[in-house]
Amino acid sequence: MAAAEKYYLTYNTIHKAVKHIASQIMESGFDPDIIVAIGTGGFIPARMLRTFIDRPILTVGLSYYDEFNKPKEFPRKIQWIDEVESKLKGKKVLLVDEVDDTRVTLEYCLKELLQQKPSEMAVAVLHNKQKKKIGTIPQAVKRYYCGKTLDDVWICYPWDAEDIDEQEHLAAAAVGR
Ligand code: G4P
Ligand code: MG
Repeated sequence: MAAAEKYYLTYNTIHKAVKHIASQIMESGFDPDIIVAIGTGGFIPARMLRTFIDRPILTVGLSYYDEFNKPKEFPRKIQWIDEVESKLKGKKVLLVDEVDDTRVTLEYCLKELLQQKPSEMAVAVLHNKQKKKIGTIPQAVKRYYCGKTLDDVWICYPWDAEDIDEQEHLAAAAVGR
């Protein structure tokens, strides 16, 4: 199988994508009480989003690896919100992550958080990959916001770059392709 095509992004592009998502959210009439970021990919997008939608950010951490660094089939919690019940019950919650890939993480998180009986639960991702999904978005989640829909490419986010100048160079070279 050929390696997935790489799609390089800059912080600038991501900032604009987040602004676009924020506009979609506001135009749709959704006014979240709380943002929940899925770590680690959702941390930076959630913080950027707060510039446009100024709500408190809670974070949850998941890992596909156990304490012996062995990969697992499903994510497990490595950090979760304390006193979730009092914080999410009856609230409008916006869950933020960077990418909707297989959807396994999103399904897991949404199901866990829905147990806390928020009044509404919505999702925002920077990118949704068009591919066969393993996970599903629960029916109770009616609002799904996405910055951009992509093919099944490998997205190279700037926060993963060891050389940020090279990252920007590669992103600029890909513009207009
Ligand atoms: P999903 O439910 O949101 O679709 O995510 P999924 O579980 O399928 O993704 C597993 C891991 O792979 C996630 O990282 C996700 O961020 C990462 N991933 C999937 N596609 C891409 C991609 O195109 N580019 C990059 N850079 N990462 C991708 P994770 O285990 O949550 O780690 P973290 O990086 O968020 O800490
Ligand atoms: Mg992630």
